[in-house]
Amino acid sequence: PERAVAAMADQEPRSLEALNAIIARSEPLVPGATQAVLGEGPVGATLAFVGEQPGDQEDRQGRPFVGPAGQLLSRAMQEAGIDRSASYLTNAVKHFKFEERGKRRIHQKPTAGEVSHYRWWLDRELDFVGPRLVVALGATAVLALTGKAVPITRARGPFRFERFHNRFEGFITVHPSYLLRLPDEAKAEAYAAFVDDLCRAEALGR
Ligand code: URA
Repeated sequence: PERAVAAMADQEPRSLEALNAIIARSEPLVPGATQAVLGEGPVGATLAFVGEQPGDQEDRQGRPFVGPAGQLLSRAMQEAGIDRSASYLTNAVKHFKFEERGKRRIHQKPTAGEVSHYRWWLDRELDFVGPRLVVALGATAVLALTGKAVPITRARGPFRFERFHNRFEGFITVHPSYLLRLPDEAKAEAYAAFVDDLCRAEALGR
C-alpha cells in the first residue's frame, strides 16, 4: 500500500520540484538520451519559453538552451531586454533524440506521438510556473501547446492557448535553430525579425 500511495503521489505532483523529480527519473521514450533535460527558471517567471527538445549539448550538460541555438536565443533575449535568468525555459520533449553519424549525434525531430507523450508534463510545468506569457519557439512547441499542427509563417504573433486548467496568453515565433540553418544572406533579416518578436513578447508579458 505504501508503494501504491507513492505511485499515486507521483501521478499528481504538488510542486514543480516534485514534477521535476518524476521527469528526471523517467526513461526516454526513444532510448539514447543521457538524461532528461528539465525546465530552468523561477516559479512565477513572467515569460516562459518553450522549445522543441534538448540538443546534443543540452543532453550532455543537462540544461536547456546551452548549445548553439540556445546561445543565439540568449543573445536575442538580451537584445530584446529580456533577462534570461528571470525567465523560464523549457522544451516540449524532455529527452534528446538523435541518429549517430560517425562521432556526431544528429538531432531528430520528435514525432507528433512523442510530443503528445510529453504534453502532460509540459502542462503541469506551466501550471506551476504560472507565466504571464508563453513564447512558443517553432512548430513543435506550438503543437505541444495547442495540439494542432500550425505553420509558423501563418501563426506568427500573439495567440491564446487553452487546455485543461491552462489558460495562457501566448506568442508564436520561429525556433532559433531555424535561424542557424538559413543561408548567410538571409540570416541578418530573419534574426532582426526574431528580436522584434521577442520585443513584442516582452511588452505583452509586462
Ligand atoms: N533546441 C531546443 O528546442 N531546445 C533546447 O533546449 C536546445 C535546442
